[in-house]
Amino acid sequence: MPAESVDTPREGLAPAPRRRFPAQAASLLLRAALPERRHLWQGVLWLLAAAGLEALGPLAGKYLIDNYLLPRDADLPRIAGLLLGALFAGAVASWLRYLQLVRLAGVAMRSVQRLREQVYRHVLRLPMAFFDHAITGQLVSRVTNDTEAVKTLYVQVLFVILDSLILLAGAMIAMLWLDWRLMLIVAALVPAVTLIVVLYQRLSAPAVTRSRELRSELNAHVAESIAGMAVLQAANAAPRFRERFGSLNEGHYQSRLGELRANAWLLRPVLDFLNVGLLAVILWVFGQRASSGPLGALEVGIVYAFISYISRVIEPLIQITMQFSQLQQALIGASRVHALLAETEAPAARDQGRVSRGEIAIERLTFAYQPGRPVLHGIALRIPAGSFHGIVGHTGSGKTTLLSLLLRFYAAPGHVRIDGVPLEAIAEDSFRASVGMVPQEPFLLAASARENIAMGRPLTDAQVEAAARAAHAHGFIAALEQGYDTLLGEGGARLSVGQKQLLAIARALAGEPRILFLDEATAHIDSETEQLVQRTLARLHGRVTVVAIAHRLSTVRDADRIVVLNHGRVAELGTHAELMALEGGIYQRLYQLQQLEEEDEAQQ
Ligand SMILES: Nc1ncnc2c1ncn2[C@@H]1O[C@H](COP(=O)(O)OP(=O)(O)OP(=O)(O)O)[C@@H](O)[C@H]1O
Ligand SMILES: [Mg+2]
Repeated sequence: MPAESVDTPREGLAPAPRRRFPAQAASLLLRAALPERRHLWQGVLWLLAAAGLEALGPLAGKYLIDNYLLPRDADLPRIAGLLLGALFAGAVASWLRYLQLVRLAGVAMRSVQRLREQVYRHVLRLPMAFFDHAITGQLVSRVTNDTEAVKTLYVQVLFVILDSLILLAGAMIAMLWLDWRLMLIVAALVPAVTLIVVLYQRLSAPAVTRSRELRSELNAHVAESIAGMAVLQAANAAPRFRERFGSLNEGHYQSRLGELRANAWLLRPVLDFLNVGLLAVILWVFGQRASSGPLGALEVGIVYAFISYISRVIEPLIQITMQFSQLQQALIGASRVHALLAETEAPAARDQGRVSRGEIAIERLTFAYQPGRPVLHGIALRIPAGSFHGIVGHTGSGKTTLLSLLLRFYAAPGHVRIDGVPLEAIAEDSFRASVGMVPQEPFLLAASARENIAMGRPLTDAQVEAAARAAHAHGFIAALEQGYDTLLGEGGARLSVGQKQLLAIARALAGEPRILFLDEATAHIDSETEQLVQRTLARLHGRVTVVAIAHRLSTVRDADRIVVLNHGRVAELGTHAELMALEGGIYQRLYQLQQLEEEDEAQQ
C-alpha cells in the first residue's frame, strides 16, 4: 500500500516512506549506539556464554538418567555433585544474563537519550520554511513519542530478541549434538514461525501505521485546541472540535483493536498449538523406535533432554513473535524520526564575516514562498548605518517577508549585504548578536519577566532593568506581584498585548544590537506610550540601524526615509515631507486617511 493512501490531508510533516523502514530504523539504531560498541559486543559475548551454561541443564539431566537412575546406581555423592553442579551452572547463567541485560538496557537508554537530543537539535536548526508547513502537535509527537518508540526498538531488539535468539541457538546446538534427526524436526518450527510472523505483519501493519498516525493527529488536535481556546470558545466551535476529536479517538481505538485482534488470533494460540503438535511428533517418533524394539536405556535420557529443549525453543520463539507488534510500532516510529532527521537544515554560514557598522544593501531582491509566485519583486535599497528607516504599505504587500529575508529566516543568496559582506557569509553568532528584532506577534516564554528579556543571554539584573526602562516596560513589570521574577504564563498570557510588545522591545534592546528590526512593534500600544518608545528609538539614532514596519504612520514620521511597498515593489521612497508632496501618492493617501480616522476618534 502506498504511504499516501493512509495519509490524511491534515498531515503536515512528510510521511515516512514505509517500504524502506527496517533498513532506516536499523541504521538509525546503529548510529546512535555506535559510541558504545564495546558494551554491545561484550554484552553479546557474555549472553552467549550464559546461553551455553543454560543449555547444559538438560544435558546434565540426561546424564543423570542414563548413568545413575536407569542403572539404579545410587551413587549419592556423585548424584548430589551433579545436581549441585547443574544448579550452580544455572545460577551463574541467570546472574550473567541479568548483568548483561542491565548493561544492554543502559546502552539502549543512552542511545535514545542521544537520539532525542539529536532530533531536538536538528529541529532547532531547520529553516523557517519548514515551520510554515509543520503542525506543532505532530512535531512534538515526533520528538517525544516517536523517539520513545525507538527506545522500545532498542529494548526489544537488544533484550528480548537477542537474548531469545541466543537461547534458541544454544538449544538447537545441544539438540544437534544429541540427535540430529530429531533436531531437524524441531528446526521445522523455525520456518513455520517465520511464516506466521510474516502473515501477522501483513495483517497488522496497516493498522499499526494508522494508529501511530492517528495518535500524532490526536496530539496535534489537542495542541491546536489549547492554543486557540479563546477563538474556539468564542466561535462556539467546541462541539465541532469535540466531534472531530471523537472521530479521531474512535479511529485510533479501531486500529488498535485491529492490531490486537491480529495479535490475539495469530500469535500466541498458533504457537501454543505448534508446541503441542511438536511434542506429539517427537513422542510419536520415539514410540516408533520403541515398537521396533524395547526402548533403549539411552533413549529415555534423550526423550527427557528433548522435551526440555523443545520448551526452550518454543519459549524464545514465542518471545520473539510476541515482541513483533511492539517491534513494528517501533520501526514505524523510527522511520518517522528518520524522515524528520532527513529534512535539510538551514545552511550554516561557513564564513566568518561580522556585522560592524550595520549598513544594509539590498539589490534586485526577488523572493517567492512558492515557486512561480513571487511576493517581492526586484527590491533595491541602501540603508546607511545608524539610520532610521520606516516601511509602510498595504496588508500583504510583503513587509514582513522583507524583514524575514533580512533576518535570514529564508535564503536569498547574493542579494543582501551587510557592511559589504553577503548576508549568508556572516557567522551565525555574530549575526544573531548584532541583529535584534521585535516580531509582529510578540512571543513570550512561559517564564519570568527577567528570563523573557534576557533570553538565556548572560545579562546582569541591571542590564535587564535598563532595557526594560528604555522600552518603558519597567513600570508595569515592577507593578507585578513579584516584579521581574513574576511568571508570565504560557505565551505571556498574564500580560496585555501592548505589554507583551513592550517586553519584546525590551528584549531586543537588551541585546544591544547594531541593527534593529521592528515589525508593527507599536501596533497595540497607546499613543502616549508609543511616543515614549519613539523617543527611545530616536535616541538610538546614529548608533543603531533601525528598520521599522508600521501601519501607524506617526511611528515612522520622523524616519530618515520611508519605504512604501506595494505588491512587493518599492513604490515610493523618501522622507515624510517628500512623500507627502507626491500628489496622488500611496503614502499621502494612507496618511490622510489616518488623519481623518484620528479626527473622527477625537470627536467621539
Ligand atoms: N510563510 C508563508 N508562506 C507562503 N506565503 C506567505 C507566507 N507568509 C506570507 N505569505 C504571503 O506573502 C505575501 C506578503 O506577506 P507579508 O506577511 O510579507 O505581508 P505584510 O506586508 O507583512 O502584511 P501585514 O501588513 O498584514 O503584516 C502575502 O500575500 C502572504 O499571503
Ligand atoms: Mg506583516
